[in-house]
Amino acid sequence: MSVLSLLAKCRVVITFNQGLRGGRVMELKKIVDEAVKHCPTVQRVLVAHRTDNKVHMGDLDVPLEQEMAKEDPVCVPESMGSEDVLFMLYTSGSTGMPKGIVHTQAGYLLYAALTHKLVFDHRPGDIFGCVADIGWITGHSYVVYGPLCNGATSVLFESTPVYPNAGRYWETVERLKINQFYGAPTAVRLLLKYGDAWVKKYDRSSLRTLGSVGEPINCEAWEWLHRVVGDSRCTLVDTWWQTETGGICIAPRPSEEGAEILPGMAMRPFFGIVPVLMDEKGSVVEGSNVSGALCISQAWPGMARTIYGDHQRFVDAYFKAYPGYYFTGDGAHGTEGGYYQITGRMDDVINISGHRLGTAEIEDAIADHPAVPESAVIGYPHDIKGEGECPREELLPDC
Ligand code: WTA
Repeated sequence: MSVLSLLAKCRVVITFNQGLRGGRVMELKKIVDEAVKHCPTVQRVLVAHRTDNKVHMGDLDVPLEQEMAKEDPVCVPESMGSEDVLFMLYTSGSTGMPKGIVHTQAGYLLYAALTHKLVFDHRPGDIFGCVADIGWITGHSYVVYGPLCNGATSVLFESTPVYPNAGRYWETVERLKINQFYGAPTAVRLLLKYGDAWVKKYDRSSLRTLGSVGEPINCEAWEWLHRVVGDSRCTLVDTWWQTETGGICIAPRPSEEGAEILPGMAMRPFFGIVPVLMDEKGSVVEGSNVSGALCISQAWPGMARTIYGDHQRFVDAYFKAYPGYYFTGDGAHGTEGGYYQITGRMDDVINISGHRLGTAEIEDAIADHPAVPESAVIGYPHDIKGEGECPREELLPDC
């Protein structure tokens, strides 16, 4: 965290005193204190109180609630330029430090709002439940920006899908009458092992659309989500996209009349997205039933604009492998009728519980230890997490 705050030249950090997750207390403020020691640009740390426990407050620290109480509750909106920075989010690539992906005001917001409305068939009055962490791009686009742009009610989910028990998601659906439920396959794979009773215990009749994101969804998980959670009557959208794309790029479109939805594969480009598949020589693969490197051949509103502080790295990482095209890093299979099936990363990025980890970053961290002259990190198949990084780790997903 300290390295990233340093790169981002952050001036203010907002944190909880302590975090709560799956029944455990996390000492967030202590972690921030440690990081801030290495970040000379940070001038203030705003501390919100998630628990009643007191934490050490230093010279830079300001209790957020007290500060907010002094301010007017109404804040006049500021006009922004369409290409002004909206936010940056660090994500892993195959080489070097994590990349500070920059999204801008107008294009990103338009794209997040439109995909939220059309991919999930969100209608006025619906309650949208995306259970992703806000710190992830999924939380940015589909807990915060997309739903709020559309005036939707958006649910904030904290904790894990199995705390206090494996009914947590479905109890939330019943209690809040959620209409669209969006989550990661890793959680579905975990929950299906707990059996159907935890789902059936709760009323899910409010649900209309189920969404999956972050990693390929295997047929067993797809079927369970569709048949058990959705009672075989909800539309299930498997959505492919990336931090860099800002919003969903390839997904089924339930609002399209007669749309066909097939497990793990019925994914079509969203409006304005023109995918192409490339062979090893850098030529576009034509025809159906073909595989290749997934590229996008024209710009779209939600695409990232740069890597903060290193535009050349942005160009090199995404536009060099296939000149004139945006390279996603993923491989895909194209079928008849213009459907795409994502086959997974083609580079040294591993996907653990939907989280992107660059093998180079893990190797660097291991190599910092004086006893390690060299290391190589690879993923291995894991039946709940998709890929695993350490055989001894407990089987709880981090989604
Ligand atoms: C993978 C998450 C298969 C893919 C929104 C991509 C998927 C990376 C899917 C981006 C999906 C995401 N099917 N694979 N539906 N969705 N991925 O930046 O490898 O955290 O490149 O964005 O996740 O991960 P990121």
